[in-house]
Amino acid sequence: MKNILVIGATGQIGSELTMKLRSVYKDGNVVAGYIRGAEPKGELLESGPAELVDITDPAQIAAAVDKYNVDTIYNLAAILSAVGEAKPQLAWKIGVGGLYNCLEVSREKGCALFTPSSIGSFGPTTPHENTPQDTIQRPETMYGVTKVTGELLSDYYYRRFGVDTRSVRFPGLISYVTPPGGGTTDYAVDIYYSAVKGEEFECPLCNGTYMDMMYMPDALRAAIELMEADPSRLLHRNSFNIASMSFDPAMIAAKIKQYIPDFKMTYKPDPLRQQIADSWPDSLDDSCARREWDWKPEYDLDSMTRDMIEKLRIKLNVKA
Ligand code: SER
Repeated sequence: MKNILVIGATGQIGSELTMKLRSVYKDGNVVAGYIRGAEPKGELLESGPAELVDITDPAQIAAAVDKYNVDTIYNLAAILSAVGEAKPQLAWKIGVGGLYNCLEVSREKGCALFTPSSIGSFGPTTPHENTPQDTIQRPETMYGVTKVTGELLSDYYYRRFGVDTRSVRFPGLISYVTPPGGGTTDYAVDIYYSAVKGEEFECPLCNGTYMDMMYMPDALRAAIELMEADPSRLLHRNSFNIASMSFDPAMIAAKIKQYIPDFKMTYKPDPLRQQIADSWPDSLDDSCARREWDWKPEYDLDSMTRDMIEKLRIKLNVKA
């Protein structure tokens, strides 16, 4: 039986991961940890326990771990890249201070800990194409600085204290459920909403801006499969490159046009997001994840686009 605490359970990833974990670990408790102002609602609230767990308060994390006899923590609290530039102090407080609290509670109480890293942990001096697993990580955003720090801290706690820390570097994540907020890859979600609503989309990035992206079902599976992986096969821990598709705005727009022929896109680059996107890799080499825990994506741009359009039409009540 697994007892799991998800911190950030009402966020972009947490809202879906909590539900997925509840369907996988039916006999255990999957606790939705939330902060004030982001309380769980609907299915998320009704399908299992929920606790107020502010990642900046170690006592709250420890109390939830004790109450539910938690053995695994999924730490999904984060401030995304563009907002992190507006609020760098808060990004550090949550990204690094919060992770430190999770690591300490995990050390004291023997929990395994999953914390996502990101394509944002790379920077302009990283090789941009087929970015290797082990390479230069000199990001220029506060988001990236918190992610690299998190990778190092998590590896330190594994080596020094034996805490079972594991992590993946998520690409931009695309989903029709909970929208992202304040990231650089968000355009690849927003574009589907505009297309399904029949609106023209103003792209905040220039054509030719390639980034790694992933459909949410693959991302959720990656997190759970890594936490279930045989530890004796893991040569890496914090953090694994994972990949499934890389595209630029023109490619995703062309794919959407195959299904919604009237769709139109114009370009109006946002200087901050463009600068961040230009500093990130175009495509990641995920061969270590494939070798060490059999990672394999299921969705590509075409199958993701078909599913996104179908699900958003239902969600937004739009006829085909
Ligand atoms: N989706 C994140 C962002 O754009 C990257 O991990 O900030």
